[in-house]
Amino acid sequence: MTADSTGRIRTDIAHNARVWNYWLGGKDNYQVDRAVGEQVTEMFPGIGEVARADRAFLGRAVAHLVGDRGVRQLLDIGTGLPTGENTHEVAQRLAPDARVVYVDNDPIVLTHAHALLTSSPEGVTTYIDQDARNAREIVAAAAATLDLTRPVAVMLLGILNFIPDTGDTLRIVRTLMDEVPSGSYLVLTHPTLDADVGGAGNQAAMDFWNENATPPITGRTRAEFEAYFEGLELLAPGVESCSRWRCPEAPVVPQFGAVARKP
Ligand SMILES: C[S@@+](CC[C@H](N)C(=O)[O-])C[C@H]1O[C@@H](n2cnc3c(N)ncnc32)[C@H](O)[C@@H]1O
Repeated sequence: MTADSTGRIRTDIAHNARVWNYWLGGKDNYQVDRAVGEQVTEMFPGIGEVARADRAFLGRAVAHLVGDRGVRQLLDIGTGLPTGENTHEVAQRLAPDARVVYVDNDPIVLTHAHALLTSSPEGVTTYIDQDARNAREIVAAAAATLDLTRPVAVMLLGILNFIPDTGDTLRIVRTLMDEVPSGSYLVLTHPTLDADVGGAGNQAAMDFWNENATPPITGRTRAEFEAYFEGLELLAPGVESCSRWRCPEAPVVPQFGAVARKP
């Protein structure tokens, strides 16, 4: 649990939004988060690179969809704490009229939502406090801001790994993609234990995380990651280490990334 029964932020156990912020060099974290973050880094020294590669992928994917493919609506589920290049900043720099809806279930992300709710005058940025498991409720709330008869980029970066049941994650993705029209996009990143992208060294660190932090994390194989895109058209270069997506020379990280179009 990230909050107690009254919704207050828990500072006695590390939580992923804050530890992710620590790995990205941010200041929005507590001692308990830094301690777990440092321990994971000792066990798996590449974790900081994974976090940076994931954010760089976010920037490239949003720039490609908005700049090259004309997307003007983005639904970013698993917002995280604000960093330098948030989805709405990348999108609205290229298209000031872009409309961005963020979703997260962490009370600390909610407290920082005001920093995310800035927008270009022509565009909109809003925030929904909701669990990703409630995909239908997310779509219903997002419909107040997004025109669901027009294409939407549905983004789930580094979040499905916090939902242990693979069947649940597949249902979430399908529900979301069923509710958006043809020409919409799915944008995903996900950590893996697959050895060919350096994931083997991640197992002990994930075990440590699951004993000392919340929510529990699950790595998924390339085949499991590919299954999220069934029925969609993967954009080149397909499923890759997220560091290499449209950046072929970069060193691999054990975090898959891909973007696909709904036909
Ligand atoms: C590792 S961070 C990734 C943040 C950002 N998407 C990125 O790629 O940099 C995962 C985010 O997902 C959120 N999250 C985890 N499980 C969630 C759930 N079941 N529902 C909504 N948000 C969740 C966390 O609070 C956190 O902000």
